[in-house]
Amino acid sequence: MNENLRIAVVGATGVVGREVVSTLFDREVTAEQLTLLASERSAGEELDYGEETLEVEKVSAESFRGMGLVLLATPAEASRSLAHLAQSAGAWVVDVSSAFRAEGAVPLVLPGFNSELLEANFKGRLVALPSAVTTALACILEPLRQAFGVAQVQVTAMMGVSSAGNAGVRELEQQTAALLSGRDPEAHTFPQRVGFNLVPQVLPFLANSPWTEEEAGWTLECARLFAPRGEVPVVAGTAVQVPTFHGHGLSLHVRLKKPAPVDQARAALKGSPALKVLDSPGEKVYPMPSLVTADPTVHVGRLRSFPQSPEWLTLFATVDNAGRGAALNLVEAGLRLAARPS
Ligand SMILES: NC(=O)c1ccc[n+]([C@@H]2O[C@H](COP(=O)([O-])OP(=O)(O)OC[C@H]3O[C@@H](n4cnc5c(N)ncnc54)[C@H](OP(=O)(O)O)[C@@H]3O)[C@@H](O)[C@H]2O)c1
Repeated sequence: MNENLRIAVVGATGVVGREVVSTLFDREVTAEQLTLLASERSAGEELDYGEETLEVEKVSAESFRGMGLVLLATPAEASRSLAHLAQSAGAWVVDVSSAFRAEGAVPLVLPGFNSELLEANFKGRLVALPSAVTTALACILEPLRQAFGVAQVQVTAMMGVSSAGNAGVRELEQQTAALLSGRDPEAHTFPQRVGFNLVPQVLPFLANSPWTEEEAGWTLECARLFAPRGEVPVVAGTAVQVPTFHGHGLSLHVRLKKPAPVDQARAALKGSPALKVLDSPGEKVYPMPSLVTADPTVHVGRLRSFPQSPEWLTLFATVDNAGRGAALNLVEAGLRLAARPS
């Protein structure tokens, strides 16, 4: 890596931002190369960086001067203006929010899936990343597509509250404490109480639509990722907010283009470096959110099919939403962009 590269992480105090900072440390980025930014709410906060401590600054247009790379781990509204400012300052920009995922002119990149886009020519200096659920879906579907073709996917995503950032984590902590003390907690971040409950709504519903923004995002992002492969699986499902903190669980029904014995499907999934197959149910070995935290692979298991419909494959998967599903993509895409010849 170019030791003169200067990197700004915006949203450094968030669930994803903290993972980004720790991933950059693992990638041997020095403290001198790094500037940590957030809103004025957490300006002055200090974050550990190995043996050192870095102070978080309030972001402004001036913050991006001299930066080669800006990693945006901010809410979509903030990303929209910050991406513009950072590009104007001449930096490469990677955004993990939903702000640019639907914009055809902005490449939607999942490192390890379509990394070639990071070397291609495109207008602007901005790249968008898919959501954590789409990241997991693409990692699982690609080896199945290569082996058998994939026609359709039905997914139920059970999403831990850290998907809603620090506020989501705080809300589950407070609601759990209140409920255990016999008090009735209020819902602020989530549309309904999530403590000791399941909420079949993640993000607002689209206008005049039965689908939420989260669910519609999977369909759109999978279409963008798979279109260049000439084969777009129909992806639809339900996003459920569940009362766990970290990790998402995905219950998947995949209709393949040809019948596949479960052993062959398992072998195809085992061949992918993006996946870890945990599929010994008799020994109580299967994917669980508690196992996937800090793991860069997506876990898959509970593989089954019905003899009556051998083209349908049923499985369960988990993904570390803030790590594998966000921070790793941000850092990998960013460092590759920054390594492009100028
Ligand atoms: N959490 C996940 O699993 C996940 C997965 C994939 C993608 N994402 C996306 O990643 C982004 C960050 O999510 P998160 O979960 O890390 O949220 P979070 O915990 O709420 O953190 C948000 C971060 O953005 C900062 N921020 C908010 N408004 C800002 C502004 N106007 N200017 C500068 N900084 C601002 C916050 O700073 P303060 O501390 O000053 O408020 C904080 O550092 C979101 O777009 C989210 O959709 C999240």
